[in-house]
Amino acid sequence: MMVPFVNETLVDFRQESNRDKMQEALHSVEAEFGREYPLVIGGERIWTERKIASNNPSRKNEVVGYVAQAGRAEVERALASAALAWGSWQKTDPAARAAVLFKAAALLRRRKFEFSAWMVYEEGKNWVEADADTAEAIDFMEYYGREMVRLSVSQPTTPLAGEDNRLTYIPLGVGAVIAPWNFPLAILLGMTTAAIVAGNTVLLKPASTAPVIAYKAVELLAEAGLPAGVVNYLPGDGGEIGDFLVSHPQIRFVSFTGSRAVGLRINELAAKPNAGQIWLKRVVAEMGGKDAVLVDEDADLDAAAEGIVASAFGFQGQKCSAGSRAIIHEKVYDALSEKIVARTRALEQGPADANFASGPVIDAKALEKVLNYIEIGKKEGKLLLGGEAGAPDGYYVRPTIFGDVPPQARIAQEEIFGPVLALIKARDFAQGLEIFNGTEYGLTGSFYSGNREHLEIARREMHVGNLYFNRKCTGALVGVHPFGGFNMSGTDSKAGGPDYLLLFTQAKSVSEKF
Ligand code: NAD
Ligand code: ALA
Repeated sequence: MMVPFVNETLVDFRQESNRDKMQEALHSVEAEFGREYPLVIGGERIWTERKIASNNPSRKNEVVGYVAQAGRAEVERALASAALAWGSWQKTDPAARAAVLFKAAALLRRRKFEFSAWMVYEEGKNWVEADADTAEAIDFMEYYGREMVRLSVSQPTTPLAGEDNRLTYIPLGVGAVIAPWNFPLAILLGMTTAAIVAGNTVLLKPASTAPVIAYKAVELLAEAGLPAGVVNYLPGDGGEIGDFLVSHPQIRFVSFTGSRAVGLRINELAAKPNAGQIWLKRVVAEMGGKDAVLVDEDADLDAAAEGIVASAFGFQGQKCSAGSRAIIHEKVYDALSEKIVARTRALEQGPADANFASGPVIDAKALEKVLNYIEIGKKEGKLLLGGEAGAPDGYYVRPTIFGDVPPQARIAQEEIFGPVLALIKARDFAQGLEIFNGTEYGLTGSFYSGNREHLEIARREMHVGNLYFNRKCTGALVGVHPFGGFNMSGTDSKAGGPDYLLLFTQAKSVSEKF
């Protein structure tokens, strides 16, 4: 009997025993630095001449590992393997497919400190952020396994005398899963396992700054009993193999999470049929955000300050859900700004393995981009805190706050994806709402208020896929807060929700007259 889904409990690092386990895991992972990892195609480990080096953003000269780099020939080979595997995997009992996810979840639960330690080193997540990523990965597998079992039976249709009517969900075929680096285990495993538990096979392209943890995830699935060829691991350059993969006529669907620019390109390329293609490609594209926390005049200001700082600076603002704008009622603007600045000033910065509240951004490109936005911000608003790079041994940026930012400023409209917060003053609730909705994105948002009438208006009018009242706008839980955004934030596919698996299936209706 399958027990009902519950979210994985987060590790309590206040307990000494848990801190010891994390230190042990960090030491054993560190001992593996510099190892090489192959591609995995049809279950075979394949080595290539070209390699991708994955660095530790906390200490940029440390190489966490090297992964083999796929080119077009490897993509073709992986397509053949995935097509072959699909022949039997699509016919495998859905409950058996779900069982692989449950086993992988159990294995990951046993090794959670180790997996979290890899993300501490490879992505610069502090312990709590890394543990939340691992817990979410476990949740996705537990949740999607149960969803497949729920969807595997014939679905209800209106009865008609003299006919046996059945509606079933069948898989799509071979797909591309293109994952981001910022939730390198949770999102990567969530996207991958949703597609495969529905009976599809995939070519998995991880981000080039998170390929080692992706390899560990692929090994985990194999250990849980996933047949060869169902998931093929293909790290590679986005431009080189990404376009090729997305355009390939044998690809039936693309499941993408990443930036707006790449998502739009994928959407465009996938829409164009190529020679030999006999279907319209399904595209699931979850993209960026310019999320905001709106604060009403009667809000609890300490709670709002806490939520704003956590939303803006958790994992250095490198979440699609990050609250990079705080829109504050003018009556409480000064008092709240002071509280936000004071709390942010208290965030100490240092290496993720030493578990500092503020760590590095992911790489040199990100550092340059964020610093460039800070220079733009210095012309657009009033610098209240930070405004410069941190220690040079890693990719550090001081948590930065700009005050009096106009709603149309670039730093209030464009996704920076770093520790930069814009404070925006609103005349009243109505103007605050307008500013909140005034970007091309629509992913997450929060509203702090004690006014019931305003809360109900906000429920209707704040146009984002994930809206929270009186709490931070990050940290969606699988099953509890199905996650995905509107407008340029993507296709609102609602990962971790009851509609998600349907995106990787097609419904077939069979009617028998008798
Ligand atoms: P990115 O768009 O740079 O890369 C995402 C993936 O796309 C990577 O695997 C990359 O190699 C690949 N890629 C790059 N060019 C490609 C191409 N031409 N064809 C196919 N694939 C290509 O994004 P990122 O930096 O990895 O992640 C950060 C972005 O992701 C942010 O914008 C963030 O908001 C967004 N994000 C969104 C969600 C969500 O659920 N909405 C979740 C996490 C991250
Ligand atoms: N699902 C992640 C969050 O809600 C992105 O923060």
